[in-house]
Amino acid sequence: MKVSVIGGAGYVGLITALGSSSMGHDVISTDIDEKKVKNLNNNIPPIYEESLDSLLKFCNLNNKISFTTDTVRAIQNSELIIISVGTPTKSNGEIDLSQIENVTSKLLSNINGYKLIVIKSTLPITAVNIIKEQLSKKYKQGRDYDIVSNPEFLREGRAVFDFYNPDRIVIGGETEKSIEILKNFYSPLIKNKVNVPDEIKVHKDDIPIIETNLPSAQMIKYGSNAFLANKVSFINEIAQICETVGANINDVVYGMGIDPRIGSNYMQPGPGFGGPCLEKDLMALVELGNFYDLESTFMKAILKRNERQVELILDKIISEINQTGSLITILGLSFKANTDDVRNSASVKLIKLLLKKGYKVNSYDPKAKYSLKNENYLQFDDLYSSLNKSNCAVIMTEWDDFKNLDFIKISKLMSSNIILDMRNIIDKGNKNLSDFKLYSLGS
Ligand SMILES: NC(=O)c1ccc[n+]([C@@H]2O[C@H](COP(=O)([O-])OP(=O)(O)OC[C@H]3O[C@@H](n4cnc5c(N)ncnc54)[C@H](O)[C@@H]3O)[C@@H](O)[C@H]2O)c1
Repeated sequence: MKVSVIGGAGYVGLITALGSSSMGHDVISTDIDEKKVKNLNNNIPPIYEESLDSLLKFCNLNNKISFTTDTVRAIQNSELIIISVGTPTKSNGEIDLSQIENVTSKLLSNINGYKLIVIKSTLPITAVNIIKEQLSKKYKQGRDYDIVSNPEFLREGRAVFDFYNPDRIVIGGETEKSIEILKNFYSPLIKNKVNVPDEIKVHKDDIPIIETNLPSAQMIKYGSNAFLANKVSFINEIAQICETVGANINDVVYGMGIDPRIGSNYMQPGPGFGGPCLEKDLMALVELGNFYDLESTFMKAILKRNERQVELILDKIISEINQTGSLITILGLSFKANTDDVRNSASVKLIKLLLKKGYKVNSYDPKAKYSLKNENYLQFDDLYSSLNKSNCAVIMTEWDDFKNLDFIKISKLMSSNIILDMRNIIDKGNKNLSDFKLYSLGS
């Protein structure tokens, strides 16, 4: 199948484009970011994900993919057009639809034969209705085009693995023809006939396909993300209560999670959810509620509890070290381990709050970068250098590098031996910790 992926240098777009090419389709991956496109043609991925380097090289070598900035050529030369551009939130909390509007305007002047338009971006229901209305002014649905929603569920940090081993494929459409075409597109993945480097594991399990209408597909995505965010805010609140009443959150999570109705996934207390999706998608649900005059009390509460979590970490730091100019080291910048994505990262929020309060801040992350024009902020390339003369270290991301720290070495470097483990990853039984004040969440 001739496929184009618009937004093909982004997190979702790149994985989708490479995945499509490994399924045997001829893929044009298009993006407005010239630098990323040039790098992709030279086998340099714009993001860090396990196995992405080798998958990119492998696909480029197989010549079934090209990276370009020419979206018009991509639209005109493909039967199936996957849209995976960003849908970030604006500063006023509304969804910024400018990227999707730009793509719609390109579609409006370049449909030359039947195209299946596949929406992979997480788009509000109202926005999909607007795209449909605009296209229907010039083209006939069913004859010239169809629109399907095919939401993406990959987890950053496991994105390549997740593409090849999805829990489900959701297809929301209005015609049998459109749903059938997308099923055919996925057929090599479903039949386990993908061409990938050996290091990428493809399981042999059946992949459930959920066929439904457009708004249901979109609501499956929004509902899933809202539910995951809910679990995070919920367990953070339970951890806060545990801390106060002398309970141990690890035992509580184990005791709760063993009940199959509850489960233990997404039940680890931490600095709160971040990343490009959960907060944005909750905000979109709140906006949708406003649009249809529905109350979104629950979604708002999840968001509010998440904001509070970073403030609670700040309160903990202040209660230990309440002296302006003290040096705090933030360990981990990405919103979760195994990705370099710092969008909506709790670490970045905490760094800004600390600087505002007059602290000096060092940071270290094995992969992510966060720069800021502030004389009191420094990012280090070496973990132990970032701890030199520090008054307090705060573990914000659950990178493996932070699980086995050399406390003897750290003790010689830090000015005061205070560690806040906001991921509960340090073994409290480590005998080298005796010189340290160690705080974790929920106990
Ligand atoms: N990142 C995730 O973990 C994830 C998971 C599931 C769903 N999603 C959803 O997928 C969508 C994309 O997210 P992302 O994280 O990949 O975003 P991203 O910002 O990493 O990627 C978007 C890409 O689109 C490109 N772009 C913007 N306008 C364009 C245009 N007019 N033509 C061509 N390219 C254009 C950008 O340059 C960028 O490379 C969002 O709706 C997001 O909510 C993301």
